[in-house]
Amino acid sequence: MNTSGDKPADFRENLIRYGGDVYPEIVDRAQGCYVWDSTGKKILDFTSGQMCATVGHSHPNIVAAIKKSCDTALHLFSGMIPRSVVELADKLAKIVPKPLRKSLLLSTGSESNEAAIKMAKLYTGGFEVIGLGGSWHGVTANAGAVSFASDRRGYGPGMPGSFVIPEPNAYRCPVKHCRDRCDLTCMKIGFEMYDMQSAGAPAAVIAEPVISAGGVIVPPAGYFAALQAEARKRGMLLIFDEAQTAFGRLGHWFAASHLQVTPDIMTVSKTLGGGMPLAGVITTDEIEDLCHRRGFAFYTSHVSDPLPSTVGLAVLQTIEAENLLERSQEMGAYLAERLAELQGRFEEIGDVRGMGLLRGIELVHDRETREPHHELGALTTQRCLELGLSMNIRRRPERGSVWRIAPPLTVTTADIDLAMTIFDQALAETRDALARRSAAGKTPAQRAA
Ligand SMILES: Cc1ncc(COP(=O)(O)O)c(C=O)c1O
Repeated sequence: MNTSGDKPADFRENLIRYGGDVYPEIVDRAQGCYVWDSTGKKILDFTSGQMCATVGHSHPNIVAAIKKSCDTALHLFSGMIPRSVVELADKLAKIVPKPLRKSLLLSTGSESNEAAIKMAKLYTGGFEVIGLGGSWHGVTANAGAVSFASDRRGYGPGMPGSFVIPEPNAYRCPVKHCRDRCDLTCMKIGFEMYDMQSAGAPAAVIAEPVISAGGVIVPPAGYFAALQAEARKRGMLLIFDEAQTAFGRLGHWFAASHLQVTPDIMTVSKTLGGGMPLAGVITTDEIEDLCHRRGFAFYTSHVSDPLPSTVGLAVLQTIEAENLLERSQEMGAYLAERLAELQGRFEEIGDVRGMGLLRGIELVHDRETREPHHELGALTTQRCLELGLSMNIRRRPERGSVWRIAPPLTVTTADIDLAMTIFDQALAETRDALARRSAAGKTPAQRAA
């Protein structure tokens, strides 16, 4: 137990470990695209915090919105609706694809998917929900049951009626059918398997427009229209989880607008709050009305709270004022160009994919066999951090080793250049060190061969 000074011997000693790698130093400050740790080290944040700080950390408009809330209202009785909630719902109704219109404003992405799935169950009268392999929709009962990028072991059964269909990963086809061009066989097989198992109570299909935690998988053109058709055939609602993809990450207000597929329910979270806990469920008048008549209740302590909704408005105003949708496309194209350059020089970069400012880089031992190079991924991530760049690596035996990079939309070409210089150096050093280690482990005869 710590008894002296202001810094504990191990600052984690009173904390429950909640999964994932923990940065070895306390972090003191975050501003724009950078964070500073307690040793004064400045780190370029290429994950926008936990994929949320799209307008940059502590943007002055967000700070002003928080101050404004301090002067008006921070929290209210859940049945009292503040002006900021009315304004945010109005704004969302204007920018979402029609006929989506009505919003429920909550705190986290898990909560928004929990509410969306409950609405779909109430509306359809069914309880069966299909998710895509590699997806992540949250940690609560309904959302976690259709999340397949996380570890599910040790907690007993998930929600009854949860199904998975294989994800459209053309680089690493889960049904071992395609290579580089997905022909939707994965979806056809998935629905056939579902039909075989269904108890006749379909409710919803839920999907991320880009499967992010599962390895930044961008489904092929036509995928979501086909998914919607399969859902409709069975009387299921289509839910788009746009936690990461909405509000500019892909260069558009929503992936749905870009894909020209309008789901029955859309959930938004991370990127709406710009770093504050804020999430939304957005649906049509018809679904909202029927759910209400059937007694829909999702009454949380922080539903319709004034502080986060004031911040959400500031995030949307900032995206418009600073042209961040266009900027995301421009900076995304520049980042893609720089990554393609690196791929040209490193055989270990098997694939580079993504859209806008959400990019994935997959590491392999060999471009032909595509055997994932987990060690190179882990060690390079560590070296990048030492050199001042934070990137997130997703490692799963079945899904490869993929860096997920998502800088704030306010990122500059100078920031991208700095990141690429660090990444280049870290990757080269780590690759060479691993090659030396492997050569040292060989017999002279093996080395000569
Ligand atoms: C696509 C997606 N949906 C939902 C969630 C869950 O959001 P939260 O962690 O805010 O509950 C996440 C979190 O990473 C996510 O990436």
